[in-house]
Amino acid sequence: MIREKNISAWESDAVLDAIATAVVLLDTDLQVLGLNAAAQELLSVSVRSSIGRPMESLFRLPEDLSEQLEVSLQERSRWVMRAIQLHTRNGEALVVDLSVIPYSAGGMLLQLNGLDRPLRAAREDALISQSASSRLLLRGLAHEVKNPLGGLRGAAQLLEAELPDPMLREYTQVIITEADRLHRLIDRMSGPQSAPLMKPLNIHRVTEHVRQLLEADRPDRVEITVSYDPSLPQLRGDFEWLVQAFLNLGLNAVQAVSDGGKLRLATRALNNFSIGQKRHRLVIEVQVCDDGPGIDQEMLEQMFLPMVTGRSEGTGLGLPIAQSLIGHHGGLIECVSQPGETVFSVYLPLEPEDE
Ligand SMILES: Nc1ncnc2c1ncn2[C@@H]1O[C@H](COP(=O)(O)OP(=O)(O)O)[C@@H](O)[C@H]1O
Ligand SMILES: [Mg+2]
Repeated sequence: MIREKNISAWESDAVLDAIATAVVLLDTDLQVLGLNAAAQELLSVSVRSSIGRPMESLFRLPEDLSEQLEVSLQERSRWVMRAIQLHTRNGEALVVDLSVIPYSAGGMLLQLNGLDRPLRAAREDALISQSASSRLLLRGLAHEVKNPLGGLRGAAQLLEAELPDPMLREYTQVIITEADRLHRLIDRMSGPQSAPLMKPLNIHRVTEHVRQLLEADRPDRVEITVSYDPSLPQLRGDFEWLVQAFLNLGLNAVQAVSDGGKLRLATRALNNFSIGQKRHRLVIEVQVCDDGPGIDQEMLEQMFLPMVTGRSEGTGLGLPIAQSLIGHHGGLIECVSQPGETVFSVYLPLEPEDE
């Protein structure tokens, strides 16, 4: 026999929170009535900032699905959509199975099953190992190339000293300057030469420095806004390395946007976040966003490899170097892009030693 009992609001909250699937309750105007703990985690929002707000304040659905949601609200129909992509308020793209279930009071219950996490972990592992193997390859290559380059340069200098006609020195100078240029290129490709100098630092010191550098470089071209979480704790990092990494991302963004383009630097804390196989209690996320044309799928898959560039004057080193610098901090760079909105997310763990 089923015992009739009024479940108190508190108890129903506790039940909902115990469910691992993200659940969002909407009223007849598609405003948020409630969401459980799993939904808060999936969508990175708090109850306080969501209740009474329109659904779009939690996430954006593709246009056709928003319309379908309105229809099912009127018709009180129930449906399930597999593997749809939605965007959270922070611009993060999530892939979920979405179930829409009308409930008696007239509103709707949305159930979101995130598919993104396993996919993401696999992708992160691929990025990390890609970065590690290209680092190894470059180090080997650098060694092979720098030795003969040194010989070449030395021989050109000897030759120059013996040349009877000073006019001919023009040619030896070409050899020497080109050998030097290649040497510098190889140095840049094989990444930082020394060990990082890890010190406690505030990430905003890094992002503000980068913002100033970008603004000094192209004052009229871009508008840079920031959205910082001032309560972020300090992390251990190498100031110069982090500046270089964020500068590479920032420069790409400046190059991608047209005149009057918009860049945004944003920071926030992520609790219990994993980077590759490692789970961290606290991770700082720094986003470098631009409203440029976006990056196509093929480029997205390859752009962290050295020498991959989409620009005629590009070297294809900015992103692999940034990835390697962040990798030395136990972090990772990821990118989500669509026309008009490209977001590079840099994840930096607070304690790189965390398991
Ligand atoms: N914010 C961005 N918007 C559009 N395309 C980008 C962006 N960031 C990187 N890219 C693409 O990735 C490529 C590789 O970038 P990078 O490694 O910095 O090398 P480079 O800037 O020398 O080409 C760029 O050439 C560009 O095609
Ligand atoms: Mg670049």
